[in-house]
Parts: sequence; structure tokens; C-alpha cells
Amino acid sequence: MAKALRVGIAGLGVVGQGLLELFAVHGAEIGARCGRSIEITAVSARDRSRTRSVDISRFAWFDDPVDLAKSDGIDVFVELIGGSEGAAKTAVEAALCSGKHVVTANKALLARHGVPLARLAEAKGLALNFEAAVAGGVPVVKTLRESLMGNQISRVFGILNGTTNYILTRMQKEGRSFAEVLRDAQEAGYAEADPTFDIGGFDTAHKLAILTSLAFGVEASFDAIYLEGIETITPADIEAADELGYRIKLLGVAQLTESGIEQRVHPTMTPKHSAVAEVEGVTNCVAIEGDFAGNVMLIGPGAGARPTASSVMSDIIDISRGVVLPPFITPVEFLKPCERAAMRAHEGGYYIRLSVYDRTGAFAAIAARMAEQCISLEAIMQKREGSELPGFAVRGMPNQPIPVMMITHRTTEAAIRLALDAIERDGHVDERPQMIRIERL
Ligand SMILES: NC(=O)c1ccc[n+]([C@@H]2O[C@H](COP(=O)([O-])OP(=O)(O)OC[C@H]3O[C@@H](n4cnc5c(N)ncnc54)[C@H](OP(=O)(O)O)[C@@H]3O)[C@@H](O)[C@H]2O)c1
Repeated sequence: MAKALRVGIAGLGVVGQGLLELFAVHGAEIGARCGRSIEITAVSARDRSRTRSVDISRFAWFDDPVDLAKSDGIDVFVELIGGSEGAAKTAVEAALCSGKHVVTANKALLARHGVPLARLAEAKGLALNFEAAVAGGVPVVKTLRESLMGNQISRVFGILNGTTNYILTRMQKEGRSFAEVLRDAQEAGYAEADPTFDIGGFDTAHKLAILTSLAFGVEASFDAIYLEGIETITPADIEAADELGYRIKLLGVAQLTESGIEQRVHPTMTPKHSAVAEVEGVTNCVAIEGDFAGNVMLIGPGAGARPTASSVMSDIIDISRGVVLPPFITPVEFLKPCERAAMRAHEGGYYIRLSVYDRTGAFAAIAARMAEQCISLEAIMQKREGSELPGFAVRGMPNQPIPVMMITHRTTEAAIRLALDAIERDGHVDERPQMIRIERL
């Protein structure tokens, strides 16, 4: 049997402990099946005295993950610390510089510094593997890197953050507000005390930057992504979406367009009976459209100790088999720069919610603003108070705002923004118009 592959793990939190457990349960069998045993030899975390789910006393301990990364006692450095800067970045650089293969689950690090790290790995002939960095236990990196390599990809998109999908799912099922459901999610441990990273779409954008690089052969670039979070979604939007045949999901979408690769993260109207719309709770999904394979979709657990550890282990196994590929599929020297696409050129249908003052002429003025931008409406819905049949109700208090929802035909984002700005300026609405893009699925 070949010499054992020696693994050092930095970070013994949720994922690190999941990996220790996986080694404890399946390590010996995996080694036998690979024809090469794989052994954890050393670990590092912040606090040595903290109780872990697996006894770590038999592994060498390093207070500093950089020392572990440079240690002669390991062949593979597994980075499970997290964060785009600081200890994780320094340790990964140190590992590659000192000839160690690297496995990481750190999407923030790859979205920000993936290109120089991949350049370093390629120059040294080392692996930089990151299956767990996108959609946790869902094997999307290998699917793009290996199984779909024969395709030209036209679009890759998905639900890439479990916390936001959990919040939107509960808002939809329970008719409760974003703030209430977020509070519950924090209490249940599904959302962080500071939830900005998830609900603001940043986490989804980190994963999308990686997917875009893999799918389109461009440099991973967080800054090239248009970003909107789910904070402004109201129960009225969720209810209107339902009545109009949609579910609202936070999607990350990368798409080839005539003006380049459009990368965007935003709340999206998805047709109610599409597979994406039916992905509920913390589950993730990724859809990939290839010219020969057609539409491929992967659905599964996007986070959690065991699913994420499963992906990390698959990367370690590749290294034990001697598989070393360019991290982003395309060698770094051939990756194209990634430009930020102009969102104003985006084309599609739009959902719009206006809170319109109940005045004569208000609606005609709104319709005129839409017509000025050549926007035609496919559906319109006005929410009425009370139980009177339409046509019998007495007009309410004048100037009382009433919600009006619209679905547009295909148009450009530039046209929609101009129309909505003009409507707001005209003073017929009492709050900023809500606008949600509709995705063709
Ligand atoms: N959690 C998930 O479901 C999931 C899913 C996919 C990807 N990921 C990614 O996996 C990585 C780890 O996530 P996690 O949820 O396991 O994080 P976590 O539970 O917060 O664990 C972080 C670990 O890193 C250690 N650490 C922090 N700073 C350190 C430093 N300066 N030096 C040495 N060790 C340090 C901590 O040590 P102590 O324990 O001693 O404090 C802890 O063991 C992140 O990049 C995350 O994005 C996580």
C-alpha cells in the first residue's frame, strides 16, 4: 500500500468536527477503498481546552494554523477557519508556499482571493480543492469541473443560502413578517446574531463568484456581482406572488448575455411549480444549463457538519488518488477578466408593487409613466379592503394608500427604473415602489 496521506485540519468548529467524525466512522474503510490510508496527524483551533465532539488528544496540536500549514508532518492542509482575510488566508498561502495540498470550505476566501491562490497552487503543481465552498454537501464543483466539461454553459443559478430560503419559506407558509421570522430563525440557530451576511445576499454572492468562474472560465470576482438582499420583502409581496403563480426566492444567477456575463443576486419571482420554487427551508439547489447535457439540477443540504464534511472528504480523497486539477478548471493564465455587467441592460418580466393614494387620476398618471418607457402590463391586481362585491363598495377615505401589484411583459431594467423613479416623483405613491425580477425557468 502507498504511504499514508497525512492530513492537518485547521478549524475544529461545525465543519471541522464533522470531518473528525467522518474520519472516525469511515476513515479506515475509505483508505482501504482508495488503496492508500488517509490519516489526520495534526489539528489547530483557537482554544485547545474546548470540548470537541471527537477526542483530539492523539493528534499533534498547533496554536497557530500557519505553523500547522508549514509543518513537515502533513501532506494536506485542510482550512476550516473561515473568513476572507486573517488566519485563513495567511495559513492557506503558507501551506501552498511550503508544498502542501489545500482543501478548504471557505467561499469568502475564494471569492476574494481565488485567483492568486489558484496561481500559486498551479505554479507548485498542488491541489486547491473546494467542493464544500459552494452549496455544502451538494457536489456542484465536481459536476462543473468534471461531468459537464464537454458543454458550453449558458446559465448557472440557484438557491445558495439556506438561511434566506428558510426565512422566505416560513414567511410564505405562515404569512408572517420578515422581522418576526428572522427573530425565530435566530432563536432556532438558523440565522446568525448578525444576519447581514446571509440576508444581504453576500454569502450567495461569494458562492456565485466561484460558480461563475467554473462555468464560464472567468476570474472569480465578488465585485462583479449585482447584489440585493431579502430585507425589503413583505408579506404582501409573498401573498401577491402566490396569487400570481410565483414563489419568491433569493437566487444567485450567472448568465451569458450579449453584453457579457451577467452576475446577480436578488429576490426573484420563480414560477410556483418549478423545481426551484419547490426547494424549501434550508435546502440548496443549483441548476446548470449546458448546450449538450441540457438542464441539470442538483438539490441537497447546503450546510451542516455532516454534509459539508462529506464534500471536504471527497476533496481529500481526490488528492490521495493523485488527482490535481487547475482549481477553477481553466488554468489561471487562460481565465478571462470578469467585468461587471450593466444591470440596466437586464431584460425580463418584473413584478411591481405600488402603494397608491386613492385619488382620481392617480392610476392614469402611473399608466402614462409606464407607457412613456414602452412598458406593457401582463397582469394587474388591486388589493381591496372589506367583503363587498367589486362595484358595490363605497370609496374609502380619500388619499388612503392602497396596494397595487403589476406584472410587466418583458422589458429592460433601465425602462423599469426610469418609470418607477418618475412614478415616485409624481407623488401618487406613499413609499418607494417595490420591484422584483421574474426569472425564466
Ligand atoms: N457551517 C457550515 O455548515 C458550513 C457550510 C459550508 C461551508 N462552511 C465554511 O466552512 C468554514 C468553517 O465554518 P464553521 O461553520 O465550521 O466555522 P466555526 O464553527 O465558526 O469554526 C471555526 C473554527 O476555526 C477556529 N479558528 C477561528 N479563528 C482561528 C484562528 N485565528 N486560528 C486557529 N483557529 C481558528 C475556531 O477555533 P475554536 O473552536 O477554538 O474557537 C473554530 O474551531 C467557513 O469558511 C465556512 O464558510 C461552513
